[in-house]
Amino acid sequence: MNKITIGVIGAGRIGKLHTGNIVKHLPQFYIKTIADPQIDEAWATSKGIPNITRDVNAIFQDEQIQAVVICSPSPQHAPQIIEAARAGKHIFCEKPISTDIDLIKTALQEVKKTGVKLQIGFNRRFDPNFAKIKTMLQENNIGTPHLLRITSRDPKIPPTEFLKTSGGMFIDMTIHDFDMARFLMNSEIDEIYASANVLINPVFQECDDIDTAVINLKFANGTLGVIDNSRQAVYGYDQRVEVFGSHGAVHADNNKPTNTTLSTNDGIISEKPLYYFLERYEESFVAELAAFYHCMANNTEPAVTGEDGLRSVIVSMAAEQSRRENRPVKIDYEKWSN
Ligand SMILES: NC(=O)c1ccc[n+]([C@@H]2O[C@H](COP(=O)([O-])OP(=O)(O)OC[C@H]3O[C@@H](n4cnc5c(N)ncnc54)[C@H](O)[C@@H]3O)[C@@H](O)[C@H]2O)c1
Repeated sequence: MNKITIGVIGAGRIGKLHTGNIVKHLPQFYIKTIADPQIDEAWATSKGIPNITRDVNAIFQDEQIQAVVICSPSPQHAPQIIEAARAGKHIFCEKPISTDIDLIKTALQEVKKTGVKLQIGFNRRFDPNFAKIKTMLQENNIGTPHLLRITSRDPKIPPTEFLKTSGGMFIDMTIHDFDMARFLMNSEIDEIYASANVLINPVFQECDDIDTAVINLKFANGTLGVIDNSRQAVYGYDQRVEVFGSHGAVHADNNKPTNTTLSTNDGIISEKPLYYFLERYEESFVAELAAFYHCMANNTEPAVTGEDGLRSVIVSMAAEQSRRENRPVKIDYEKWSN
């Protein structure tokens, strides 16, 4: 197995998670450099990374680095994709690519021009539960899908600093659900109607954001869908999917630390869902980077493409428009721009 030398850009929550996974589970990668303007040097040293820097250009300028893993704040993604592509480096980039459609298109053009691989971090496609639903749909286990239901509720609200640059709930959080909807239905979202409110914390209002939503979807193939979101489920990270079709239904429940249930005179108690994305999607984060390696090593199409990244951003923007104008919005992917 040929090792691929990489640089990690951004070492906050998700950068630390990917780095930890690579060091522990993915020997096919060698992390030569990690760059973050506010790098936690003690942590990076503990991971055995030889070059620890505050200067991201050190990665772009290093000819030995073949690929980058972009984990910086969302507004940095597109400019860093462009830099990395121009430097001839393959790119794994966290979602969303950008909140600016024109910038995404420029970034994707640069990727196409330079021929580097670009995979977007929609890790949930690699979750064993949801991947199994996908396989069951492909094997026609439930006939023609009629209804898709996604429940996606975070356990706690993000830090205010993060909210200020996140781009809003739809493009930061629901974007995973939009991608899951497209992935499972194998059809584009044609029309969207988002109803949303601030019910948890006024900080969302202050950030011109929302914290609770119900989103109706119509797919090009006629299937209907509904997503419900909350930024705060007090019982933990609530991540469920159901697809109902002409010959049956399939659903995936929450994962729990154990499946034990205590039954006594006082009642029946089972465990809460795994707390948050680190725990719940642990396997998927490893699997998505293994897939990134595979597409580079075998020169194949990335499992989640730049076009997937663009389309999910367009759906997120249509959802934002829908909730602000309080009406269903038709999505024309070719014409959509800022
Ligand atoms: N796939 C997922 O489930 C998932 C989960 C969490 C976050 N994310 C995404 O990952 C990105 C980062 O989120 P986070 O939660 O780790 O945020 P974070 O705020 O914890 O970390 C971001 C880090 O980037 C650093 N940084 C700032 N400017 C930079 C630059 N120009 N170049 C390099 N690094 C820079 C910051 O110092 C910080 O350490 C966001 O785009 C977010 O949407 C994805």
